Amino acid sequence: QTIFRKDYTPPSYLVDTVELGFDLDPARTIVASRLTLRRNPAATTRGIELHGEDIELVALRLNGKLLGKRDYTLANNLLTIRSAPDDVVLEIETLCAPDKNTTLSGLYVSNGNFFTQCEAEGFRRITFFPDRPDVMAKFTVMLRADKARYPVLLSNGNLLEEGDLDDGRHYALWEDPFKKPSYLFALVAAQLVCQEETFRLADGRDALLQVWVEDGNLDKTDYAMQSLKHSIRWDEEKYGLELDLDRFMIVATSDFNMGAMENKGLNIFNTKFVLANPRVATDIDFQGIEAVVAHEYFHNWTGNRVTCRDWFQLSLKEGLTVFRDQEFTADMIGTATGRAVTRIDQVRTLRQAQFPEDAGPMAHPVRPDSFVEINNFYTVTVYEKGAEVVRMYQTLFGVDGFRKGMDLYFARHDEQAVECDDFRRAMADANNRELGQFERWYSQAGTPVLRFEGRWDEAAQTYTLTLFQSCPATPGQPEKLPFHIPVAVGLLDAAGADMALVVDGQQRGTTAVLELTEAEQTFVFTGVTGQPVASVLRDFSAPVILQGGYTDADLLHLFSHDSDPVNRWEAGQRLAMERLLKLTGEAGANDDAAASLNLDETFIEALRKILVDETLDPAFREQCLTLPSESMVAEQLECVDPLAVHIARQFVRADLGTRLRNELLAQYEANATPGPYSPDAASAGKRALKNLALAYLNAAPDAASVALAQRQFDEADNMTDRAAALSALVAARVPQAADALAVFYDEFQNEALVVDKWFAMQALSPTTDLAAVRALMTHPAFTLRNPNRARSLVAMFCVNNPVQFHAPDGSGYAFWAEQVIALDALNPQVASRLARAMDRWRRYAPALQWQMREALQKVAGQVKLSNDVREIVGKALAN
Ligand code: ARG
Ligand code: ZN
Repeated sequence: QTIFRKDYTPPSYLVDTVELGFDLDPARTIVASRLTLRRNPAATTRGIELHGEDIELVALRLNGKLLGKRDYTLANNLLTIRSAPDDVVLEIETLCAPDKNTTLSGLYVSNGNFFTQCEAEGFRRITFFPDRPDVMAKFTVMLRADKARYPVLLSNGNLLEEGDLDDGRHYALWEDPFKKPSYLFALVAAQLVCQEETFRLADGRDALLQVWVEDGNLDKTDYAMQSLKHSIRWDEEKYGLELDLDRFMIVATSDFNMGAMENKGLNIFNTKFVLANPRVATDIDFQGIEAVVAHEYFHNWTGNRVTCRDWFQLSLKEGLTVFRDQEFTADMIGTATGRAVTRIDQVRTLRQAQFPEDAGPMAHPVRPDSFVEINNFYTVTVYEKGAEVVRMYQTLFGVDGFRKGMDLYFARHDEQAVECDDFRRAMADANNRELGQFERWYSQAGTPVLRFEGRWDEAAQTYTLTLFQSCPATPGQPEKLPFHIPVAVGLLDAAGADMALVVDGQQRGTTAVLELTEAEQTFVFTGVTGQPVASVLRDFSAPVILQGGYTDADLLHLFSHDSDPVNRWEAGQRLAMERLLKLTGEAGANDDAAASLNLDETFIEALRKILVDETLDPAFREQCLTLPSESMVAEQLECVDPLAVHIARQFVRADLGTRLRNELLAQYEANATPGPYSPDAASAGKRALKNLALAYLNAAPDAASVALAQRQFDEADNMTDRAAALSALVAARVPQAADALAVFYDEFQNEALVVDKWFAMQALSPTTDLAAVRALMTHPAFTLRNPNRARSLVAMFCVNNPVQFHAPDGSGYAFWAEQVIALDALNPQVASRLARAMDRWRRYAPALQWQMREALQKVAGQVKLSNDVREIVGKALAN
């Protein structure tokens, strides 16, 4: 059943207070709820409507009177009390079975501990409630549980009281001083330990900060704690936003569907985004922890204090909060190139995941118009494209203008549930700008395509830049109107230096942000004394596909000189992509392809120059040397032959490894990071470049390169270097790989997150075929029930091992169908994510395409299927 944004109606009743009592028992938890409700003056409907799912109603009282079956209806997970007075006290008693809850939504048990996950619609799996974000109430929570098994009892807000009960049980009473929607409710009842400290806030108050983990993991909580403190400080300094509670808790659980959850004062995290020390976590893991801790903390204002009116507005909090965590990450690094390196990561994510989503059957606007299952809309479009949309306000109005908009947004909407339009209006009003057309970024799906033509007029000393935009049709949106696109442009002279820009008689520095609002628009730069090379879309100023416009010579010029590091990197990516596409064509047309492929010296030279340029950050050089992924190449093709793409890209890697051998070896040595491991950006950048060199050297391995990888594997004292060495050995297809994998497993078998890496590393290796994956699934450490583990092997293989997944006999697709069906019976959210692996099935060569459709039909034909998976496969088959 599809739900439409246009059908929104205000809630019939508002909830002022919620008192919850939990008698926690894994098999049979009793939940007593006492709600005070009052009729919503803005209501258009009359009855009291409460959601409830997978719970048993024991008793229901209205203003003290026990209701019987005739006083309410209960159907399709909706409990309706047709007629009720304006002021109501409801008392509801329900039962649930947390230990049978494999969906990890609502109240569930993980490693014997209780956790909750209520966003988006999990609270209704705990008790009957108007489970919608525009119903905000004050919560008081009484937890009761066995003291020995569950010594720690946590909920939102402040601890009012705790003590012992009979029979070895104890209790804790929590009160959240702020009203909140039900999706922000949380409880934890567990055997856990914590790292804690008091932290002085900007206004002089002291807050208690805690990071709760399982016993044995206290050696892995420092970085999360440090990230939390940095986040609190940053939000105070950057936006004047303070922690509004006396206590802020982070709790890690190993069974979690997503990354983490911003429950008020009680953030619950996937262990992957909390636990780290140098022995078990890589640089990327440390980065992920810093970003996710910040993200969840920043939600306290953007999401919790100001929340969403309905789930169509999800990007209101997610796009904004992702933008905030991106800016935080950039500020933490602090240097200009450091910022650019984080920006390049963001561009990569967009190209790798969001552009394909926007071009596929699940394409949807940042603010969707309809959905079947809201959990399917926690997407790269809502999150990452949503963050790009927020970033464009800052690009248009500057950092100060953006801050003014933020201040106005909070002044207007604190403690309200609002819409994306309200955020846009605050930005517009604070900056005295009309942003009507900008709304299309929220309502139109699809990635706009931007083209440009430049003409230098020597006599007039002008450079005329014409920009064109268009946007392809997406499901349900055949026609698109022009977007309001900020296009940041610079002009390079023949020596590679930035020209001073004058547009329409105005001095614009060296980068001008042009505002493109028409399908075609012309901008004239004056005083241009020589033929320039335009650097268009600097810093990736809008989430668009910039097509054509450059010659190879332009790209080489930009790759050598552009002062904008993002566009400098971009020029290299374009040079690489042209070549990868040409080689893919050649590889597809030829059986003995690899032997006949070759790469031009110009390209190799351009890369060589960057590789050895010691004036550039190693992190930046690593990004310049990294090729677009196989799936990015595939996105450029009308008809994808995954094997040809793989052969072409592997050829380039091997060729670079051979032809840049000496330089790679030199960089490998030069970027060693002796001394104790530190996850800081400079050290991580060195390791990234060093390990890229190792990977390229082992793409065409000789004995020396393999020995280098083996030595690094044996001697490294940190996970970044060990994992990189192990990956290099696995990719090199040498016998040493099996031994190293065994050693690695042996050493880390008690570290779940490292075991995930061990599975993932094998799953994504082109040397691992389906039979090998099936063998790994029989390994005692494998289980589909743990989302991280399931993803590390099954999803990794289906999504990140294209050449094996797309085996010509269709066996990969049959495997996919089988796993989606198996997972769906346990956990629809995880199954539904895996289902998305087939999104782009229509783009593959015909022989693959029909087998993919068959697999999709197999899943769609299941009698018992969740709404989650049904929506995904239905849309894939229909579009
Ligand atoms: N709000 C969380 C975050 O972005 C994501 C939780 C979504 N969970 C879900 N099951 N849909 O940090
Ligand atoms: Zn979020």
